Amino acid sequence: MLPFAELHLHLEGTLEPELVLTLAERNRIALPYRDADDLRSHYTYGCLQDFLDLYYANMQVLRTESDFAELTDAYLARAAAAGVVRAEVFCDLQAHTARGVPAPVVLAGIADALATSGVDHGVSSGLILTFLRHLPAADAELAYDQALATGVELLGVGLCSSEVGFPAAPFADLFARARADGLHTVAHAGEEGGPDSVWDVLEHLAVERIDHGINAMDDPDLVRHLAERGIPLTVCPLSNVSLHAVASLADHPLPAMLEAGLKVSINSDDPAYFGGYLGENLAAVQAEFGLDAAQLATLSANSIEASFLPQADKLRLLSLH
Ligand code: ADE
Ligand code: ZN
Repeated sequence: MLPFAELHLHLEGTLEPELVLTLAERNRIALPYRDADDLRSHYTYGCLQDFLDLYYANMQVLRTESDFAELTDAYLARAAAAGVVRAEVFCDLQAHTARGVPAPVVLAGIADALATSGVDHGVSSGLILTFLRHLPAADAELAYDQALATGVELLGVGLCSSEVGFPAAPFADLFARARADGLHTVAHAGEEGGPDSVWDVLEHLAVERIDHGINAMDDPDLVRHLAERGIPLTVCPLSNVSLHAVASLADHPLPAMLEAGLKVSINSDDPAYFGGYLGENLAAVQAEFGLDAAQLATLSANSIEASFLPQADKLRLLSLH
C-alpha cells in the first residue's frame, strides 16, 4: 500500500452517526433522530452552509475528554486502514468552547489519542488549531490563547468555516503571531470562493498550504503562482461533490490540477458526512479518472512532501515508493 499523509481532516467531521447517538445517550442529550439511518438521511446539502449547520449541531454531543479521545482514536484506526502514515488533523476549538466545553477538555482528549497514534496505529500525527472565519478575529485570538494555556503541542493554525463574505485580513496579526511562535499555517480557500479568495489568504496570511483551492483553476496567473512556488493544495473530492463545489466528480479539476503541476494531495475533509475516508476518496478519483500507477504515486508523494514532517522523515517515507 502506498503511504499517504492526510493533511485536510476536521476531527469533528469524523463523527459518525452511530457515535453521535452513542455520545448523545451517554451525555443525556436529546436528539430529534430515531436512529443512525434517520440521522444519515439528513446528510444531503444544498451548499457549504447547509453542511456546516448540521456539523456544528451534531458536535453538541462531544462533552468529555474521553469523548474527544474516542473520536480521535476512531479516526486514526480508519485512516491507518487506508494507508495513512501521517495525519495533520484540524480541531475547531471555538465550536466547543462556545457551548461551554473548556479548551483543556477538548485538547487533552485529542492530545491523548494523538500521543499514542504511532504505537497504536502506525500513524504519526500533529494538531492544527483551525479558527472559524465567520466569528470575529478577537474570538480566534482568545481560542489561540486558551489553546496555548493548555500546554498541548500544536503543529499549526488554520482558517475554516464559511468562506464567502468573510475576508482573511482580520486574521493577519494572529497568523503572524502563530508563525512567530514557530507554528505552521494553512487556510481554507477556493472551495466556495473564487481565485480572489485564494489570493486573499496568500496575501494576508502567507499560508504554507491551501485547503481545497480547486477554484484557483479559474485564474491562470494564480495557477502559475502556486505551481512555481510549490504551494500545496489539499483537495477533497467527495467533499467537493457533496457540497456542490463541483457539478459532479467528472467535472472535478483534479486531472487539470495534476496536469498544471500543482502539488495536489487527496484528503477526506469531513469523512463521516461526505461518503468516506481517504480510501474512498482515492477509489472514487481512480474510478472516475482512471488514474495510472504513476499518478497515484504522485498523489502519495505530494501528500508526504506537503506535510509538515521533518525532512528526514519525508525522505524515509518517499523511499518506500
Ligand atoms: N469546516 C469543516 N469542513 C469544512 C469545509 N469543507 N469548508 C469549510 N469549513 C469547514
Ligand atoms: Zn475542510
